[in-house]
Parts: sequence; structure tokens; C-alpha cells
Amino acid sequence: MTDDLSLRASQLRQLVAYHAYRYYVLDAPEIDDAEYDILFNELKRLEADHPELITPDSPTQRAGAPPAEGFVKVTHPEPMLSLGNAVSPEELAAWRDRFLRLLPEGQQIWYVAEPKIDGLTVVLHYETGLFTLGATRGDGYVGEDITANLRTVRTLPLRIPVSKSGPPPPTRLVVRGEAYMSKAEFARFQAEQESAAGKRYVNPRNTAAGALRNLDPAITASRPLDLWAYQIVALEGGLTLTGQWDALNYLADLGFPVELNNSRHFDDFDALSAYCESWGATRDELPYEADGLVVKVDDFALQERLGFVGKDPRWAVAYKYPSAEALTRLLDIVVEVGRTGVLTPRAVLEPVYVGGVTISSATLHNADYVDERDIRIGDTVVVRRAGEVIPQILRPVAELRTGDERAWSMPEVCPVCGEAVVRYPGEVAYYCENSHCPAQLVRRIEFFVSRGAMDIAGFGSKQAELFVQQGLVRDVADIYELPKHRETLLGLEGFAEKKVDNLLEAIEASKAQPATRVLTGLGIHFVGGTVAELLLEHFRSFAELAASDEASMSQIEGIGPRIAGSVAAWFGQPDNGEIVRRLAEAGLQMALPEQAPASERPLDGKTFVITGTLPTWSREQATEVIKQAGGKVTGSVSGNTDYLLAGEKAGSKLDKAAKLGVATLSEEDLRAMLHL
Ligand code: IVH
Repeated sequence: MTDDLSLRASQLRQLVAYHAYRYYVLDAPEIDDAEYDILFNELKRLEADHPELITPDSPTQRAGAPPAEGFVKVTHPEPMLSLGNAVSPEELAAWRDRFLRLLPEGQQIWYVAEPKIDGLTVVLHYETGLFTLGATRGDGYVGEDITANLRTVRTLPLRIPVSKSGPPPPTRLVVRGEAYMSKAEFARFQAEQESAAGKRYVNPRNTAAGALRNLDPAITASRPLDLWAYQIVALEGGLTLTGQWDALNYLADLGFPVELNNSRHFDDFDALSAYCESWGATRDELPYEADGLVVKVDDFALQERLGFVGKDPRWAVAYKYPSAEALTRLLDIVVEVGRTGVLTPRAVLEPVYVGGVTISSATLHNADYVDERDIRIGDTVVVRRAGEVIPQILRPVAELRTGDERAWSMPEVCPVCGEAVVRYPGEVAYYCENSHCPAQLVRRIEFFVSRGAMDIAGFGSKQAELFVQQGLVRDVADIYELPKHRETLLGLEGFAEKKVDNLLEAIEASKAQPATRVLTGLGIHFVGGTVAELLLEHFRSFAELAASDEASMSQIEGIGPRIAGSVAAWFGQPDNGEIVRRLAEAGLQMALPEQAPASERPLDGKTFVITGTLPTWSREQATEVIKQAGGKVTGSVSGNTDYLLAGEKAGSKLDKAAKLGVATLSEEDLRAMLHL
């Protein structure tokens, strides 16, 4: 009877361990969760009724060990040494050249590259398949016994092989691996902790370290950790392995989680080097943090022969990528004034190497961003620079505060001109509304000449700053007076004859830009390209627009009271009226071209929406055709839509048009209507 039960318990242990392995390690379950629960619960019941059947490798025993008083020291069977680094293909080649010198010429070398997991080194001992001891790396020679905590790691095999088809267990096996917390688990854990305890954890690695070194295994169990195994430290009574690639596969066969998906075997150094160079792009997409690759000479006999220099093996090297995140000190917060007078806080940082460059500045977006994250001057902050994006400050590390940090708030006056700063209800931004503020002036000039507006080649921020500083440009209309200052320009540093001529030519050419670009370029608050177009299509000219009022602007579809208010206020300022007058005088386009007479505008007052792919017209061409004929094109189908111009692969707009009873036209229909 007890034999039967004992047999059943053993079967259940094996089944549960196997299916957990399929689920957690291979990510390929063979049974569903409910079936798994039935097995697990049966085992639990059996053990509850017959505690003598409980074994240390039972899956029920992962959590539940009582808190420890402290950790017992463990001497490693072999020193757990570290690695040298290479950060470029050149350094990788230099590493290879260093050991090649010690080998006979023409020696064939195979390599293995594996992710360098950013976690905590653990050393796992197995006696005839049973997990008996797990230790931290410690100082490399002596670590601490954290067996109870490691049992809670779901992917760590408590007994090997995990699967019946696996090789028989060696009599003794010591494995080196990395315990880590996945990015997803970290995010979940962090969110949970923040709402529950208001506590912040800095990164997955520190969180995993805290969990592993917790005296209470129940706490470790509540912080889901994972494992990657990558090195055999000792092996007795198992297979004879010839190299690292063999070892990785053997570990995987025994049921250890091994990162074979991102590991490669190379018989050629150049291919290895190319892999190292390209793998950096993959790294950010991994579900766990890796700070590089570990490159190893595959062959164990060669490894033995190459040995160590100091604490680093000659046969392995860490190929590291610049980290996308780093810690540094926030030295100050300065405020910059933008084109529309928006005040933007910017972080002045102690220079730090992150994402491949050294940065000393990062945007803080707006005052709310600073407030919400409680970012203080003097804080140690986490900065991130991924790819080409502007560096960001993610958060302060509150744990590292000394008490000398200073809270920051938006100044009450503009740091450049000293005028009072305002904030509109419902907006995050603070503004300096002094239109003569020199900071704003530079930004306004910059914007006026930029690609989205007048598109003046050879005129950028540098020139804007210089001309403002020299007093040559006090408003955008002054740009067109620059030809009068040719001599002065030639006297400026870096302005040779050719350069001045090109610039003046580009300025002249910009006079042909359509009126909508001129209006956009003025940088009126809330008036971008689309709004400028809506306004001018309605009013046709600056003169009409300036003469109108808020109420009539608000009549235009797409123009709300906020925009109308801002435009009316801008034109209401005498200085601005003067700028418009001077721009007109300089010969800029201050009106849309004359429209065809009403008889030639068959689509007058008709609103179109375009959807799908038309047989011959591009969307822009169709829009132009409709506008020429007096019609209007908007983005979405509504009660105001007269026609839906639909091509192939028209989507939901077609259904919506049908529902609202909006007529649908093909390109052919429209051509017929317009006799084209
Ligand atoms: S091999 C002598 N392989 O990176 C062999 N280490 O300085 C040295 N690490 O803390 C270790 N992933 O624990 C190796 N696939 C991997 C690794 C790896 C992460 C850690 C290692 C150590 C550091 C190396």
C-alpha cells in the first residue's frame, strides 16, 4: 500500500516537474493549466496525508522553507572568475591575437557566443541528479548558501533529468548560471510595489539580487526569478564533453534553461565578429537584460591550455554594448524659451556615457514631468538614451538622496527677458508672452526659415542666433532686408562671398513660397500647416484674415475658439500688423492664387473624403483636383461630407458613408463630373 502511494508520489513529482519544464523553460506546454493543477493538487494532497512521502525535490517544496538566520558560507569547487571586456570589433580581434600568439600557427579555433545575462551568478550543485546546494558567487572563491531561495526559481530543475528522454544524471554536477528577473516581471513587480508600498526598485538586476539574498524564501518566491545555465564547473560520471557548445546542449538535454536561441557556434572569427557587431540591435528586444555577449573558445582542451591571466580567462571575453541607461547626477535645471514662448526645463547633468555617447544634458519636458517624478536638483537620476532619441531622465533614485537635494519649480519670470510667466488653464506649458524676448526671437527666426515654413537653405539656428545677436534681424521681416547688409554679412566670421550670395539667393527664392507657408512661419500659437491652410482657404488673404474676428474664424470647420482667439490676438497686436505689412512690401505671397470664377468651380462648397487607393491619382493629386474645382477635402466621414471618393481597399470609411447616406464616387465618376 505505502509502496503504491510512494510510487504514485514519485510519478506525480516527475509529471509535475516535466510539465512545469515544458511550460516555463521550453514555453511549449503539452497539457493545459487545469490538467496541470489536477496533477499538482493530487501531489499536494498525497503529501499532506503522508508527510513521510515528501522529498526535497518535490515541486511542492519550491517555496515554504522557513526564514533563515543568516547565510552559511560555501567554498566553490573552482574559483568563479570574471571576464575581460571588448567593446568593438577591433578589441575583439586584439583579444584573439593575444591568445593566438600562444598557439601553433594555423591552429583551428571554434568559438561560442552567448548572451551575457545581467543577473546574479549562481553555482548549482547536483548529486546523482538531485539539487543539493545553490550558492551566490560571493568574492569568487566563497559564496553564500541560498539553496532555499533558489528552489523558488521555477525554471531551476530540482531533479535532473527533467524529462524521461534526457540523459542519465551524472554522479556529480556543478553548474554556473545567472539568476535574473525578466523585464516583464520587473515591470509588474515594480508597479505592484509602487502602488502598495510607494517603493521604487531601480532595475531588474538589483531587484533580483535583493530577492535572492532575502532571508525569507517566501519573499524570494513572491519575486519571480528565472535562470539561464551556461557553464559546467564540475562533472563526474556523465558524458565526456569536448567543448562549450557540447556543454550547453548537454545542460539543455538535462532540463536546464539554456539560452540556445541567442547562442551561436562559429568556426570562423570573422563571422563571430560580425555576429557580435550586429547582435546589439537584438538585445533591446530580449525579454531579459543582457549587457553583451560572452565569447568563448569552444574547445575545452584549448581552454585548459590557454589558462588565465590574473583573474580573467584567456579563452573568454565579454563583448559589451554601451548601456542604454545610466546613473548620473542632476547638477541643475535650466529653463529654455521656445519660439512660442514655451518655457522648457532642461537637465544639466554630470557627463555620463550612455547609449554610446557622453551626454551632459537631457530634456525634462515640462514642469509637471519634474513634479510627478519628484526630480530634485542634486538627485542621482536614471538617464536613458536609446537609439537616436533625445536623452530622457526616467526617474530619480530616491534611495541615494543625502538630504541636500533641492526641489525645483518653474520660475515666475522669464529667465531671458524677465517678463512675468503665464500658464493657461488646462495646459501643461508655461509661457513667456513678451514678443520681444530675445530667446523667443531666435527661435521664431529659426522656425520661419525652417523646412516646414519658408524653407530657406543655408539659414539655420546658427545663422539665426548670429543675426539676432548682431542686431541684423529683430523680426522675421528683417530677413528680407538682409540684402541691404551684404557688406556687414561679408564681415562676419565664416561668411565668404559665395556663402553670402547663396544665402541671399535662397532668401529671394523664398518669396515665391505660398501664403500658407508664410502664415505657418509666423509661429502663431496653435497655427501649424493644417490650420494655416484652413484659415487661408476660407479668407484667401492675410488682409481678409487680419480684418476678421474670432467669431467668424470659429465658423470654419476645424478652427475652435482656442485657435481663433490666438490668431485674433496675434493680428490685434500693432507690431505684428507692421510685420505683415513689411512682408507684403518685400514681395512675399500674402494671398492664395485667384480662384477660378464660380462657373468653373463645379464642386463649390462640396466636402470630400478620400479613401483607399485610386487607379491613377495619388491622394495629393485627387485633393488638388477637388480643390481646383472649388471643393474641400477632409479626413473623416461625417454628416457634413458630401462625397466619399473611394478607391481599392477602402476600409471602414465606406461603411460609415453608407450608414450616413453619403454618396460614394470612384475616380472615374469624379472625372466624368469634372469633364476630365
Ligand atoms: S562565462 C570564466 N557566460 O558575466 C567564465 N558569464 O564577468 C566566466 N555572465 O558575473 C563566465 N552571462 O556570471 C559567462 N553566458 C555567460 C554569462 C556570464 C552572464 C556573467 C558572469 C560574470 C560576468 C562575467
